[in-house]
Amino acid sequence: MGKDKLRKFAENLTFDNLVQPEFDEIFHRDHALKGRWAADFFKNGKPITLELGCGKGEYTVGLGAADPERYFLGIDIKGARMWRGAKTATEMGLANVGFLRTRIEFIESFFAPEEVSEIWITFPDPQLKKGREKKRLTSPVFLAWYARFLAPGGVIHLKTDSRELHDYTLRVIEANGLPCEIASADIYGERLDEVDPALTLKTTYERRFLEEGKPITYLRFGLDGRRSFEMVYDE
Ligand SMILES: C[S@@+](CC[C@H](N)C(=O)[O-])C[C@H]1O[C@@H](n2cnc3c(N)ncnc32)[C@H](O)[C@@H]1O
Repeated sequence: MGKDKLRKFAENLTFDNLVQPEFDEIFHRDHALKGRWAADFFKNGKPITLELGCGKGEYTVGLGAADPERYFLGIDIKGARMWRGAKTATEMGLANVGFLRTRIEFIESFFAPEEVSEIWITFPDPQLKKGREKKRLTSPVFLAWYARFLAPGGVIHLKTDSRELHDYTLRVIEANGLPCEIASADIYGERLDEVDPALTLKTTYERRFLEEGKPITYLRFGLDGRRSFEMVYDE
């Protein structure tokens, strides 16, 4: 492992805004913060927004800086990327921003019913290979996990350069009759960023895709209080 990664891992241990649970804290059991994020971590009772696969946490930090009245928690498995977000939030003094280093597959261990009001999924790995549908972060498998803690009226935002993942998610939404507030095949072409300031934020991957001239797609949808979802496979 490189020295820079080791330095970041060591500094991660010093951040008050970064939680890195041990495997046995969550394997087949609930984490101590489940149902307690607002009270014990952020120390106040405000709605929580998650960014899944946050990488360097640009959305978590950007949304947090813009809205001190809400809490923002970035989740990723890669500590060296998350270091950037935790460091920036610390330097900016953002008390409403935090990071959780874990696999998203364990997400149920961390959040109690109605604890989360919004989920951003920013440029996830599209998992396009045959038979990988269940690995996609917008597959019905993951939606059923999110449904356990998303508050009534809560929304999911998917921002991706992958037209295939965008279309797959649309098919999931349609197959399950979920309410879709916005579906855009090209955020900037349709100038959606001019009406929603949240869409002006750009992640590391997004900047790369924009440089390559790729359109950036966006979906905003709800789960309609549902708990189970019909699985959708590629045709
Ligand atoms: C393509 S990157 C996008 C990062 C960031 N959202 C951006 O747009 O720059 C996908 C991120 O998801 C994280 N990731 C992928 N699968 C994950 C999983 N199962 N649990 C936690 N993080 C995951 C990776 O570590 C990576 O940082």
